[in-house]
Amino acid sequence: MVDTPPFNLIIFGITSNLAQIKLIPALYDMAEKGILPENFTVVGVSRSHTDLQKHFRIVLAEHNRHHEHDINSSVVDNLTSKVVHIAGQLDDPLLYEKLKTYAKGNTIFYLATYPELYKDIFVNLNKAGLNSQENGFVRLMIEKPFGADLASAKELDMLLLEFFSEKQLYRLDHYLGKETIQNILTFRFGNGLFEPLLNKTFIDHIQVTSLENFGIGKRGGYYDTVGALKDVGQNHLLQMLAFATMDVPSEFSNEAVTLERLKIVKKLLPMPDKIVLGQYKGYKTEENVSKKSITDTFFAFKTQIQNERYEGVPIYIRGGKQLSKTLTEIAIVFKNPDNRLFNNIQSGQIPNVLIYRIQPNEGIVLKILTKKPGHDFELESTAMNFDYPKPDASHYLPDPYERLLVDCLRGDQTFFNDASEIEAQWAFVDPLLSGHGQPIIYDSGTDGPKEADNLIKSDGRSWIS
Ligand code: BG6
Repeated sequence: MVDTPPFNLIIFGITSNLAQIKLIPALYDMAEKGILPENFTVVGVSRSHTDLQKHFRIVLAEHNRHHEHDINSSVVDNLTSKVVHIAGQLDDPLLYEKLKTYAKGNTIFYLATYPELYKDIFVNLNKAGLNSQENGFVRLMIEKPFGADLASAKELDMLLLEFFSEKQLYRLDHYLGKETIQNILTFRFGNGLFEPLLNKTFIDHIQVTSLENFGIGKRGGYYDTVGALKDVGQNHLLQMLAFATMDVPSEFSNEAVTLERLKIVKKLLPMPDKIVLGQYKGYKTEENVSKKSITDTFFAFKTQIQNERYEGVPIYIRGGKQLSKTLTEIAIVFKNPDNRLFNNIQSGQIPNVLIYRIQPNEGIVLKILTKKPGHDFELESTAMNFDYPKPDASHYLPDPYERLLVDCLRGDQTFFNDASEIEAQWAFVDPLLSGHGQPIIYDSGTDGPKEADNLIKSDGRSWIS
């Protein structure tokens, strides 16, 4: 049973793409599952006047790849009856005066807007006294990317910590709310079987991959200011790596889990000469993208974790848009022992691979060699799969936004980033981007620039997916 307290959720950027494809559907799912309390209000803020109830209905009627199931009209009626719209500019103190009416009792401010506006929001919330927790909790859910580099992230953190305590801050990376990412902790630390193998003695290399077969859609205004590495690399992919490689936390608590993730990110070695940046052909003609843009829509880079456990294990990280397929996973490729009995027969050298698969089909896969049935001794690589059951409800696996909203309501920060974690991510990524010139143009529907293949091939390896 999921219990949530009464609350007011104030969303800055209610007409944003994020609110449409993730937040509004997540609220619907919570309503449908009965995990919203009796008393709650959703206040949507955007620049111009909007019929928010109608907006919710339109958004929910449109299926998208995150929200594919049918909707129940009485649930929608009930949800929209709790929705209020406020029009205003985010840098206008008057807006915050208006919000005072709604920010009574437990309040979450959700920043689903352009990162450049964060500063104005923090300053104005403070000016209006909306950070006071006298009548209930006040929490901020802040979307990534948090800052644009280490210096700006530090500046934001300093500003935020003047007005709010770290306990009020929920810096959100929705990958931390994904079932399979959280399941990595169970797989590794809830079982005794695999953990002893996850180190430099047994691992040949690690690949972290996030490929998408679609472009930036209508998000040009945002995307062109960040690019692929800052959009998913600095955050989602580093977090995936951290979950897959961190040491066992001393206990299952926010502090202990975050500490171990942080230790990994801090030990990552930036290798600025081992990065390839690409841009898909036609990107510059996308809506709201500069005709001269040098923004990356693809990246591939190599790194290493400089600690005793993984010393010398190469890690290859790759992500991008308009590629041949959509696939997100962490693959741990094991070394072949020299004395493997079947080393000399065909397929006998295919390595064992452990894959944490985020999409499609969330699950965990172990690739092993098996004998092909028959009179000859032939081998093949076979997948042992853990898949989640697929009951009728397509939202049986809670969407990460649903999970993280519930966590925030419950005051659990385990699957959110703290200041030091975000800053460590930027400290790693900044050197990779310094001096970044023209990205290499690649055709849509391919696997990205050839140079990315060469990056891994020159080490005698290849991309496994
Ligand atoms: C978002 C990025 O954070 O993550 C998008 O801004 C990306 O560009 C998305 O497509 C991927 O998330 P998911 O949940 O679809 O894998």
